[in-house]
Amino acid sequence: MGDNAFVVVANRLPVDRVGGRYEVSPGGLVAALAPVLRSREGCWVGWPGDVGVELEPFMFNGISLVPVALDQEDFEGFYEGFSNSTLWPLYHDLIVTPEYKQEWWERYVAVNEKFARAAAGAAAHGATVWVQDYQLQLVPGMLKALRPDLTIGFFLHIPFPAPALFQQLPWRNEVLEGLKGCDLIGFQRHADEDNFRLLTTEIRTGTFPISIDLGEIEAAPEASIRNLRERVGDPEHLLLGVDRLDYTKGILQRLLAIESLLEEGKLDDIAFIQLATPSRERIEHYRTTRREVEEAIGRINGRFGDVGRPVVHYVHRSIPREQLGTYYAAADIMLVTPFKDGMNLVAKEYVAAHPGGDGALVLSEFAGAAVELHQAYLCNPFDLESVKDAIMAATEPDPARMRQMHDWVVEHDVAAWARAFLEAL
Ligand code: ADP
Ligand code: G6P
Repeated sequence: MGDNAFVVVANRLPVDRVGGRYEVSPGGLVAALAPVLRSREGCWVGWPGDVGVELEPFMFNGISLVPVALDQEDFEGFYEGFSNSTLWPLYHDLIVTPEYKQEWWERYVAVNEKFARAAAGAAAHGATVWVQDYQLQLVPGMLKALRPDLTIGFFLHIPFPAPALFQQLPWRNEVLEGLKGCDLIGFQRHADEDNFRLLTTEIRTGTFPISIDLGEIEAAPEASIRNLRERVGDPEHLLLGVDRLDYTKGILQRLLAIESLLEEGKLDDIAFIQLATPSRERIEHYRTTRREVEEAIGRINGRFGDVGRPVVHYVHRSIPREQLGTYYAAADIMLVTPFKDGMNLVAKEYVAAHPGGDGALVLSEFAGAAVELHQAYLCNPFDLESVKDAIMAATEPDPARMRQMHDWVVEHDVAAWARAFLEAL
């Protein structure tokens, strides 16, 4: 037993140890939860991102961290295997085909046990433990067995699929049993909660759309916005994409839409900046997606760019958070085109960076964010013409739409999200 009255358990710690150096971890879960933990006393139990390193608890950026070590077999079976080659594609409606392997499942059980034990060791008597996301669905049940005194919440950051898809999972009953250990499960959208409730109504559920910390998106100075636009040739329309390089994000589809509009002569004086964080790079479908994206970028620049004046500016790296605000503020059109996404915080970050009502958001109907940001230029990424139409509409945006979305995000920030969930718990 530990002395923390509030414990967050997530697969990743908010810091990622890469070759002995620390970086901010990728993804929306960390971006949203880090400010919540900084403002509440407590600790964060998670994996530091390096394989085979045992670390003692430490403090980072005002958050108390309790590392859980993963060895090579855990990394391959639990992380790359069951979490990201079975659950991730299954829960994102089979954009690629999930693989079901007994040995991955066994690793998933073993690693969930490690997390449950670490959480049990960190939590004080009667503490609140908040377990996060698809990698740790067995932790609530395991933790309840170890520590019946705890109050346990669970939040699923990604979509929950329709029962007909979920039933494919050979270990569907075990996963549901694991989740039943908690006192409340939170989902991003009512549709996810409804899908889950078709399987079981024994657990208390709720819908809590996650959000951002507006303080994290820095107001960009006018000079740096001008400088960025000049660097890309001062185009009439500056388009932007910001994603982890993941096949769910529809990066290729937005490139194809742009290519087709250039071909038809409907767009000419444009630049498109695509920032892409490397992600899960050893998994075959991620490699294929990267190859296809990079091939399309090369082709578009070869066809429509010129020496010293490419159309697509591509960065395959994580950008420091302080700089992201400048990209968002400088962009006339933000392209968020996932095939399926739990929420998509990038959409909310872009809106936060446009308090004056300028800019336009092209947003997939299949992103959780579309429920709240319905004034965006919505599109269906499975339909190229729909993406093209949304981009064209966004070239003449209506400032009232951006202002309404901005007001919404200001009122519904990540602190409000955490408060709503924890009060319900
Ligand atoms: P996901 O959680 O699936 O990665 P989200 O859109 O919800 O998707 O969250 C992504 C988070 O990662 C956002 O906070 C975004 O700012 C950040 N991010 C994405 N790409 C980059 C990048 N190239 N550089 C820096 N931050 C990035
Ligand atoms: C999404 C998931 C998170 C995950 C993040 C980054 O946001 O919901 O659970 O941490 O992607 O992915 P990674 O595999 O690098 O942790």
